[in-house]
Amino acid sequence: MANWETVEVTTDLLICGGGMAASGAAVEAAYWAKKNGLKVTLVDKAAFTRSGAVAMGLSAINEYIGYGKGENQLQDYINYVRQDLMGIARDDLVFNIARHVDSSVHLFEKWGLPIWTDENGKYVREGRWQIMINGESYKVIVAEAAKNAMDKAGFEIYERVFIVGPIMDGDRIAGAYGFGTREDKFYVFKAKAVFAAMGGAVHVFRPRSVGEGMGRSWYPPFNSGSTAYFTIAAGAEMTCQEIRFIPVRFKDAYGPVGAWFLLFKSRATSATGGEYMAVRKAELNNWAPYGLVKPIPANLRNYLGMLDVEAGMGPLYMETAEAIANLAKAFEGDEKAFKKKMKSLENEAWEDFLDMTVSQAILWAANNIYPEKSRSEIAACEPYFIGSHSGGSGAWVSGPEDVNTPYKWGYGNMTTVKGLFSAGDGTGASSHKFSSGSHAEGRFAGKEAVRFILDNNSQPNVGGIDEIKAKCLKPLDTYAAASKFTTDPMINPNYILPMQFMFRLQKIMDEYAGGVISGFKTSKALCERGLELLAMLKEDSEKMGAKDRYELERCWENFQRVWQAEAHVRTILFREETRWPGYYFRADCPKMDEANWKVFVNCAYKNGQWEMKKVPVVPIG
Ligand code: FAD
Ligand code: ADX
Repeated sequence: MANWETVEVTTDLLICGGGMAASGAAVEAAYWAKKNGLKVTLVDKAAFTRSGAVAMGLSAINEYIGYGKGENQLQDYINYVRQDLMGIARDDLVFNIARHVDSSVHLFEKWGLPIWTDENGKYVREGRWQIMINGESYKVIVAEAAKNAMDKAGFEIYERVFIVGPIMDGDRIAGAYGFGTREDKFYVFKAKAVFAAMGGAVHVFRPRSVGEGMGRSWYPPFNSGSTAYFTIAAGAEMTCQEIRFIPVRFKDAYGPVGAWFLLFKSRATSATGGEYMAVRKAELNNWAPYGLVKPIPANLRNYLGMLDVEAGMGPLYMETAEAIANLAKAFEGDEKAFKKKMKSLENEAWEDFLDMTVSQAILWAANNIYPEKSRSEIAACEPYFIGSHSGGSGAWVSGPEDVNTPYKWGYGNMTTVKGLFSAGDGTGASSHKFSSGSHAEGRFAGKEAVRFILDNNSQPNVGGIDEIKAKCLKPLDTYAAASKFTTDPMINPNYILPMQFMFRLQKIMDEYAGGVISGFKTSKALCERGLELLAMLKEDSEKMGAKDRYELERCWENFQRVWQAEAHVRTILFREETRWPGYYFRADCPKMDEANWKVFVNCAYKNGQWEMKKVPVVPIG
């Protein structure tokens, strides 16, 4: 067996992940743990200050209620989220995040994040719920605050340690295991409670960017479904596994569109110039009542554009030049003021990308695109799993104690597994929390996890470490034993390399589960065949081979992706209707069925079997 050192760390609360939710959890839990003589440990696979979806920076904070300022009511946000998810959302969770989110934003500002303000000192709104920021260093600022809180309490942070899976003591979480991505070290973390917030998943489906563009995707390539795998493997009930997110983005570099639609009030059109949201408005009646609300749900906005593409009217375009001209119109007649306005609009257009998707600015420059002169191509991306944005997949967690909700079993944000908590992309049916809401939810969950530990203050048993270590390092052994059998170690019948494994997974998902190549369409028969192929891929995961530590990480990332993939396909198969056209289409059940399917679909993997069930949607308020 590969000769790696074993490092054992014993703690009270283990935070897995170092993104927005984990940063929130660290700030809050460090305070409560220190006060109660407990210990917190945080583990991130990357460098904490530049990890996760916010690593590159963001140009807006997408959830700010302005509740204390009388700008919006909490109930309006709850309604907005439920409608955007075509009726399927947990009001109790959305409410809980909404009531705490503004305080996270105020903390960000206090810690140094520049938020745009108008001449009266009011935050500049991008849309009703979003505010504009100069956010290139957003993650650095938020992570530094979490680091300071952890340092002050004397707690440790492990960077560049990849968490593979959970360690259980019966039905209670007992810790996690993983390995160093820069050192030959196998880690065992023993904990009384675990907070799993390792983001969502990308590269489960074949991306549009292949070959020379491989690695470019909208969702950050380093989130590989670790939270989903961790919670599923621990036996937690999962929800909304069918609600993937497909963003429409500036084509090929995946630049954001929110600022264009909301701040610049731009139109999106087909090649022939028609605005699909206007031309195809009648289609929305087929998806009533959700199709008839404002804003029109994200999946339906996608869907109308997709109909144009299917009808041969692509490519689709963002009418950037027209939008800029409209905004500058009021200044026409005063040449100096007009020029100044045009300059500031151009700056805002470029800054939107430079703050969060630098490669889109580079692509514009490379393609001679001047947003004030020409329109720019947009397209629907491949599917992602991101429960914090406009998708819904994640673990099924307990609602807050003080809210009258049927979904409650003790500690807020605890999964159905004792002592296992989650937030951000890790929790389902509570979309539209974004960066700020993920942080607020993390703060709440961190505090609840400490409360759990105080009530259950015993160290669970951790056994079988040698077997876990052997299994974790096996791909290195498999490769070492067989790589000399062939002249080219890339081609070898004794193992499957991580890249080959990933391509196989992506081909299955693309062709059978409604990826780009299938026009986002699937069916019962396709899902069933896809599951057969996934089962064989899972069998072959026993034969994963890794030539070095780097490939070992890629092996386990892909292994985790397969579990996210399977939960997704099983849930699509179980739900016999189409509810989110624009995300996926069950071509054999093309209509929405409110009478039978206005429910959550939950699943869990127990004793080697998947259990699927319907859970009623109970609104609050
Ligand atoms: P993340 O912040 O992604 O953190 C995941 C963490 O887990 C990272 O630290 C990662 O390194 C770590 N990790 C992953 N796997 C492992 C493992 N196996 N072991 C250990 N650590 C691991 N929100 C806004 O408010 N405004 C915006 O403009 C906006 N734009 C966005 C643009 C893009 C492209 C994306 C993808 C998201 C955007 N969001 C935006 C949403 C926001 O980024 C997310 O809601 C938020 O980051 C979710 O927080 P999280 O903690 O769940 O995940
Ligand atoms: S981002 O995460 O990459 O910034 P995006 O650019 O899609 O996301 O959107 C930012 C915010 O604007 C999100 O809250 C999203 O729901 C909202 N949004 C984007 N486009 C529209 C639209 N056409 N109508 C209403 N809201 C929109």
